[in-house]
Amino acid sequence: MKKIGFIGIGKLGLDCAEVMAEKHEVRGYDIYPRTSDLVKVCDIDELVNESEWIFIAVPTPHAEGYDGSVPSSHMEPKDFGHDAVIDAIKQINQHARTSKKVVLISTVLPGTTRRRFVPLLDPKHQFLYNPYLIAMGSVKWDMVNPEMVIIGTEDGSTTGIAGELIDLYKTMMENGPRYEIGTWDECESIKIFYNTFISAKVGLANMIQDFALRIGNIDVDVVTNALSRSTMRIMGPKYMTAGMGDAGACHPRDNIALRWLAKEYEIGYDLFDTIMHARELQAKNLAQFLVQQALTHKLPIVIHGKAYKPDVPYCIGSYSTLVGHYVKQSGLPVLYLDPLADDPTDVVDTVGASVFLWAHNRKITYEYTGDQADTEPYCKTIPAGSIIVDPWRKLPRTMDGITVIHYGNTRRS
Ligand SMILES: NC(=O)c1ccc[n+]([C@@H]2O[C@H](COP(=O)([O-])OP(=O)(O)OC[C@H]3O[C@@H](n4cnc5c(N)ncnc54)[C@H](O)[C@@H]3O)[C@@H](O)[C@H]2O)c1
Repeated sequence: MKKIGFIGIGKLGLDCAEVMAEKHEVRGYDIYPRTSDLVKVCDIDELVNESEWIFIAVPTPHAEGYDGSVPSSHMEPKDFGHDAVIDAIKQINQHARTSKKVVLISTVLPGTTRRRFVPLLDPKHQFLYNPYLIAMGSVKWDMVNPEMVIIGTEDGSTTGIAGELIDLYKTMMENGPRYEIGTWDECESIKIFYNTFISAKVGLANMIQDFALRIGNIDVDVVTNALSRSTMRIMGPKYMTAGMGDAGACHPRDNIALRWLAKEYEIGYDLFDTIMHARELQAKNLAQFLVQQALTHKLPIVIHGKAYKPDVPYCIGSYSTLVGHYVKQSGLPVLYLDPLADDPTDVVDTVGASVFLWAHNRKITYEYTGDQADTEPYCKTIPAGSIIVDPWRKLPRTMDGITVIHYGNTRRS
């Protein structure tokens, strides 16, 4: 039996504390009077000193008018409030006579824990970020039947205190959940992007509803049910590897054409424009990263793969050429290596040491057809002194005389 304390026993904290109290000795502290038959409500000094684990479940409130119940998209973006979390940390520092395992449950944006909370905590304590995927109305059930348990540590290490927390949860979980462990920042991201993926999904389904109303002869359920049964590409892990942008003969142009339809039927908003705008700026960000490497190391830029995907000649709708466009816009030339490309502009077959963008990845593109071989270099060898920017993060980091950068991985290790 472990000794556990909850700072903040409100809508989330109290139910979670009561679930833990079925197996452990649990205390609760709150700035407002709270009662419980299972949790011993006590003062902060007792809570801190009688608990080995201290869970913080205080509010991280949005500003007035930022909850989504009234229009807010026209208003200045604002972060959540952190005062209550900071107060809880200070209370732990002030009262703790021994070192504690401090676990923050409250929802915060990526980067907050490292930037705002950990520097305030007395270094004798250990800190974990452990947000819950819990919904109002089913808090106790969700607590012991979660889709996953998210545990963030300073460097993402799975041993030590993260392992101890897993052992603690194993004493109470009913569904044998998976444990997702990462850095504090990665776990803040998992939690907040989990929620916002749901918002995006609902927004897309409801957009089809709006089209059904305007166009006529459409039952939105016929459309969304067909899509929801599409487990090959839409309802599954496919397309969840960040890398090059959406490309090809169909996808970009379909979105571009739907911008027209949204306008024609006066839908009133244009998600396709937003998606295509994001795609272009993502390409521009990648181009600027290549340019920065090229200028720093005085090397030319070569995009490895010009067609929109490996093994085909088609350069229509190619994300490689979109990236190339932004490289040129920044004032640097760009060359392509691609023996199949149907557009020979700027395509070469040999290059010297360069900054390569490793645009093609056969394994990822064709994995749904079975196991695939890796993309082989489109030139005899990659010259020593080159830098490969791998947006798929699959090339080995150590290659003889070549620097490989895993674009999208900024862990500090
Ligand atoms: N409610 C949910 O279903 C849910 C789900 C997932 C995550 N979260 C997150 O958990 C956090 C808490 O949410 P909630 O719904 O329980 O909020 P809540 O407002 O119901 O409860 C928070 C409790 O903390 C207390 N409190 C405030 N400041 C305090 C302080 N300085 N010291 C001690 N106690 C203090 C409040 O009195 C209140 O009882 C938020 O960050 C929220 O986003 C909530």
